[in-house]
Amino acid sequence: MLLIYLLSILPFLMFCQSDCPTRCVCDPSKSVQCYRVTTVPKAIPSDTRKLHLGHNNIKQLRASDFGGLYGIEELALSSCGMEATEAHTFSTLTNLRTLELWKNKLRSVPSKLPSNVEVLKLGNNRIQALCETDFEGLAKLKILDLQNNKISKIYSRVLSSALKLESLILDSNSLELLSGPLKLPYLKRLSMQNNRLSSLPSNFFSFLPSLRFLSLSGNMFCKIPQKMPPLLRSLKMDKNLIDELQLQDLDYLSYLFELSLSENQLSTVNDALALTNLSIVDLSKNQLKAVPSRLPAQLRMLDCSHNFIQKISLQEFSGLCELKHLFLEYNNITVIGIDAWQHCLQLSDLALEQNQLSSFPKGLPDTLVRLDLKGNNITDIFKESVENLKQLRVLNLRNNRLLSLTPDVFGYLPRLRQLYLDGNPWNCTCDLMKIRVLLTARQVEIKSGFCATPDYYQGETWLSSTKILNSCGYNTLHGTKGKALLQIATKTAQEDDSSNVNGPADNEDYYDYDVD
Ligand SMILES: *[C@@H]1O[C@H](CO)[C@@H](O)[C@H](O)[C@H]1NC(C)=O
Ligand SMILES: *[C@@H]1O[C@H](CO)[C@@H](O)[C@H](O)[C@H]1NC(C)=O
Ligand SMILES: *[C@@H]1O[C@H](CO)[C@@H](O)[C@H](O)[C@H]1NC(C)=O
Ligand SMILES: *[C@@H]1O[C@H](CO)[C@@H](O)[C@H](O)[C@H]1NC(C)=O
Repeated sequence: MLLIYLLSILPFLMFCQSDCPTRCVCDPSKSVQCYRVTTVPKAIPSDTRKLHLGHNNIKQLRASDFGGLYGIEELALSSCGMEATEAHTFSTLTNLRTLELWKNKLRSVPSKLPSNVEVLKLGNNRIQALCETDFEGLAKLKILDLQNNKISKIYSRVLSSALKLESLILDSNSLELLSGPLKLPYLKRLSMQNNRLSSLPSNFFSFLPSLRFLSLSGNMFCKIPQKMPPLLRSLKMDKNLIDELQLQDLDYLSYLFELSLSENQLSTVNDALALTNLSIVDLSKNQLKAVPSRLPAQLRMLDCSHNFIQKISLQEFSGLCELKHLFLEYNNITVIGIDAWQHCLQLSDLALEQNQLSSFPKGLPDTLVRLDLKGNNITDIFKESVENLKQLRVLNLRNNRLLSLTPDVFGYLPRLRQLYLDGNPWNCTCDLMKIRVLLTARQVEIKSGFCATPDYYQGETWLSSTKILNSCGYNTLHGTKGKALLQIATKTAQEDDSSNVNGPADNEDYYDYDVD
C-alpha cells in the first residue's frame, strides 16, 4: 500500500523538485510564489499563470527577466523596493491582465506595457509625471490606481488610449492641473482625494457619461463643480473650502444618492438638497446654525454633527419618513420641539451628545434603538419622555447633572441592554438604592458612576457599594431580600471603578452606526 502511495505521488514530487526554482513554491494551479529573492528567479515554469514576487527585495527589473513566460496573467511585484524597470520588461507578457507594482520606488510608469492589461496598480510609488506614451495601446485597461505618487499635472491625451477605463484613482498626489476633458466613455469611478485642485476645466465632465462615483475630498474647491454627469450617484467633497450651496449646484443630479460635504465652511445650503433620490447626507463639521429645511423625503442618514445648531423643530424634519440615522452631536442645541420627529417613524439612531439640553427630550419616536445624550446638562428624566421607547437598547446619559432618578423611569424600557449613568453628581439616598435593586434585577449592563453626595458616600460606586446597601437596611444575610441584594452587589462589583466622576473615558461606549 505504502509503495503504491509513494509511486502515485512521485511524479508530483519530481515536478516540485525539478521545475520549481529554489525559494519558490509552485502549486498545481500554475501559481508560483517566491520568497527572499533579490532578482526574478530563473527557470520559473513556462506555463505559470500567476507569479507572486511581492515583499521581496528586487531593486531592478531587466528586459530578460520574464522571457518565455508568455502564459502569465497575473504578476504581483508589490513592496519590493523596486527603483526601475528596463524598457520592454513586460512587453512580451502578452497574456498579462493584472500587474501590481504597489509600494515601490518607481519614478515613472514602466514603458511598453502589454496591451491586454486590465488592472494596473502603481500606488505608493514616486511617479512625478505621466507621459503621453505611458498608457499607449492599453485599450483594455479597466482599473488604474496611481494613488500616493507625486503627480501634479494630467494632460487629457495621456489616457486617450484607455478607452475602456472604469476606475481611475489619483488620491494623494499633488494634482494642481487637469488640462482639458478626459474622454473616457466607460469611466464609472474617479477619485482625486487629497490633492491641490481648486477647479476643473469647464468641459471636464463632457466626455464622462458613465461616471457614477466622484470623490474630490481634501482639495481646495470653493464651489461645487459645474456640469457634472447627470447620472452621478455619489459625490464626496469633504475637506474643501465650500461656503455656500446654491439650488443650481446640484438640482440636475436627480440620481444622486450620497452627498458628503463634511469639513467645509457651509453656513447655509439654501434648499439645494431637495433631490428626489438623495439618501445619505453628511454635513458634519461646518458652520450651520440650523438643520437645513426642505431635505429630501428619501433621506435615510443625516449627519449634522459639529455645527452650531441651536434648535430642532418639526419644520426641518417634516415628511422625513425614511430617516433612520440622525447625528446631531456637538452642536449648541438647547431646544427640541416636542413634535420635531413625529414624521420620522423609522428613526433608530439618534446622537445628541455634547449639546446643551437641560432635560431629556420629549416626544421621541418609539423606534429608537440607540440614544446618546452624553455631555448635556440634563437634570431630570420624566416618565413621559421614556415611556414610549419600547425598542431602546442603548441609552447614554453619562456626564449630565442627574442627582436622582424617579423609581419607575427605567421600567418603561423593556429592551434596554446598555445604560451609562456615570459622570453625574449622584445623591446616594436610599431611594437611589431602590432603583439599584430594580436595575440590577434586569439584564442591563450599567455604568453607574460615583456618589457626589452625601459627603460620607463620596467616591462610592452606587451600583456596587455594600456600605450604602447596609445602611439602607439591607444589612442582613438572612433575609431573602438582603441576600438577593448582596448577590447583586457582588455581581455588579465588577464594574469599572477606575474611571472618575468628572471625565470617564469616552471610547468605551462606542457603538456602530452602520447604515444598512
Ligand atoms: C431614483 O433611483 C431609482 C433607482 O434606485 C431610479 O429608478 C429612479 O428613477 C431614480 N429617481 C430619479 C428621480 O432619478
Ligand atoms: C456654542 O457652544 C460653544 C461651546 O459649547 C460656545 O463656545 C459657543 O459660543 C456657542 N455658540 C453659540 C452660537 O451659541
Ligand atoms: C446647566 O443648567 C443650569 C441650570 O440647571 C444652568 O445654570 C447652567 O448654565 C447650564 N449650563 C450650561 C452649560 O448650559
Ligand atoms: C439628597 O437627598 C436628600 C434626601 O432627599 C436631600 O435632603 C438632599 O438635599 C439631597 N442632596 C442634594 C445635593 O440635592
